[in-house]
Amino acid sequence: MNFQHQPVLLKQTLSSLNLRPGGLYLDGTLGGGGHTEAILQATGPDGRVIGLDQDDEALAAASRRLQPFGERFCPIRANFADLAQVLAAAGVSELDGILLDIGVSSYQLDEPGRGFSYMQDGPLDMRMDRRAERTAADLVAKLSEAELADLIYRYGEEKFSRRIARRIVEQRAQTPLESTKQLAELVSAAIPAAQRRKEKQHPAKRTFQALRIAVNDELGVLERGLAAAFASLKPGGRLAVITFHSLEDRIVKTYFAGLAKGCECPPEFPVCVCGKQPQALLITRRPQTAAEDELQSNPRARSAKLRTVEKLEKLI
Ligand SMILES: C[S@@+](CC[C@H](N)C(=O)[O-])C[C@H]1O[C@@H](n2cnc3c(N)ncnc32)[C@H](O)[C@@H]1O
Ligand SMILES: [Zn+2]
Repeated sequence: MNFQHQPVLLKQTLSSLNLRPGGLYLDGTLGGGGHTEAILQATGPDGRVIGLDQDDEALAAASRRLQPFGERFCPIRANFADLAQVLAAAGVSELDGILLDIGVSSYQLDEPGRGFSYMQDGPLDMRMDRRAERTAADLVAKLSEAELADLIYRYGEEKFSRRIARRIVEQRAQTPLESTKQLAELVSAAIPAAQRRKEKQHPAKRTFQALRIAVNDELGVLERGLAAAFASLKPGGRLAVITFHSLEDRIVKTYFAGLAKGCECPPEFPVCVCGKQPQALLITRRPQTAAEDELQSNPRARSAKLRTVEKLEKLI
């Protein structure tokens, strides 16, 4: 099992978190533990990290890797959307910084048995948390044609969603769709040949993304997670979020812009009557992205975007 991939935007992430020795941080998406290891190294000997992952395999691998840090590292199997309850149970009230590096890990993508990859054959699963009941195969088997088309269009931004949904429904009437290879081939066949020739990426990429987002409720979880994360920061604490596609980045951008906005009165009002104060400072007005040297060694960093905010003191 290989979790030893380069953490994305590592340098930018460490500096955007404004780490302080002895601080208490939370990594909501532990994965292989690469970012957390670097945070622990930068905040030693007293810095601590609480690491969450909903994937039991990721948590086990990261815990092995981070064993040398002893009690400075605390792994917890949880969804970062449940951050408030997790912190309450751990007896922690406020954090110096939080990192969310959203999405699937390289390991999850590379491991055919997890069913995330359209490049390798495996069960059509895609659950990050394997305690969850609903797999991608369940969605493909049970949703109506219209629901499938809508899901593939919304979460995959796939313009041939209707054709793909129709094929799925035709196919499943013959045999159940249970493997990634079956679905990847079906999607390729549903996309017009001229379009297939034009594309650089695999034609099934968008449909797989859509199913993955739905299986793991990734956008809903991100919205809840951002609010819970910001609420648990100390004044002066930072929240850094790395996303990999535009649907996620839009959610982060909008949420951060809302926090940073003060008065919402119409411009023609002579004085403010809403009394709204900004709650956060935008550390990055534009998202940070990977530099050329990182792209050379890690092509997956190409779509990564990092945005950071700092919580402001409450003005009463
Ligand atoms: C991109 S990887 C993180 C890689 C990590 N930063 C590193 O340096 O190795 C994302 C990880 O977050 C986990 N994950 C995604 N969404 C999650 C959520 N809502 N709650 C908890 N873990 C989540 C996935 O299971 C995966 O292991
Ligand atoms: Zn106002």
